[in-house]
Amino acid sequence: MASDSQPAARIGRHAPRAQAGATAPASAAARRPAAGLRWVVPAKIAVFIAAWYPLARIVLFGLTDRLGANPIEFITRSTGLWTLVFLCITLAVTPLRRITGIAAFVRFRRMLGLYAFFYATLHFATYLWFDKWFNVEDIVQDIGKRPFITVGFAAFVLLIALAVTSPRAMVRKLGRRWQSLHRVIYAIGALAILHFWWMKAGKHDLLLPKIYGAIMLALLGWRLVVWLRERGLKSR
Ligand code: HEM
Repeated sequence: MASDSQPAARIGRHAPRAQAGATAPASAAARRPAAGLRWVVPAKIAVFIAAWYPLARIVLFGLTDRLGANPIEFITRSTGLWTLVFLCITLAVTPLRRITGIAAFVRFRRMLGLYAFFYATLHFATYLWFDKWFNVEDIVQDIGKRPFITVGFAAFVLLIALAVTSPRAMVRKLGRRWQSLHRVIYAIGALAILHFWWMKAGKHDLLLPKIYGAIMLALLGWRLVVWLRERGLKSR
């Protein structure tokens, strides 16, 4: 999961703290950007609460008997779709930060990524428990046989690696390797779309996979363009 600790250093540059011995007007000026970041904590609390909406909706529908004729299918599909939504939002943080110049956006990235992992875990647990009743043999066969399950499982395993290495202590411990590891978020995005696409292709209903595929393509394409431009600038 993307951590905010490295970019926090960047935020630090944007928001320098008052230096000891600085003159009064200079230190007041230095404090001004930090004061401009006061919205971050309430906004993080708001995002933290809002991100429970998909689970609250499932619980509410369950309690009021509105999960439809096939509640397991409803829960599997809802948690799968919300995993994808949180993946897209997490991937949108960097473009949003670069386009708007608001460095503080990066402080939301770890939380959003962890919510993607949370909903992926619920999604997988629903499949494991209510679809397969923890029948390991059946699950292994399914992962090997159905390509959409194979790629979904691969995406989930990669997400586990990112979630486990998301704490600040791991960022420090892994150093440069952390950044390389967390680039697998792009592969996760691609696998998630493939999973969705293959699942819906069997039902001849590709509208949503096409929409999410276009969003993912734009998010990953933006990064590719920035990377190519920066590489071009460096080689000049
Ligand atoms: C990052 C990981 C994953 C993402 C983003 C994801 C996403 C999705 C999405 C978007 C759907 C379709 C929802 C809809 O119909 O609106 C779905 C369905 C489904 N996914 Fe996943 N998924 C992931 C991992 C997994 C894993 C690990 C498994 C099981 C091993 C799995 C099993 C299923 C099943 C069984 C369905 C429903 C198929 C049906 O109703 O016919 N997914 N998933």
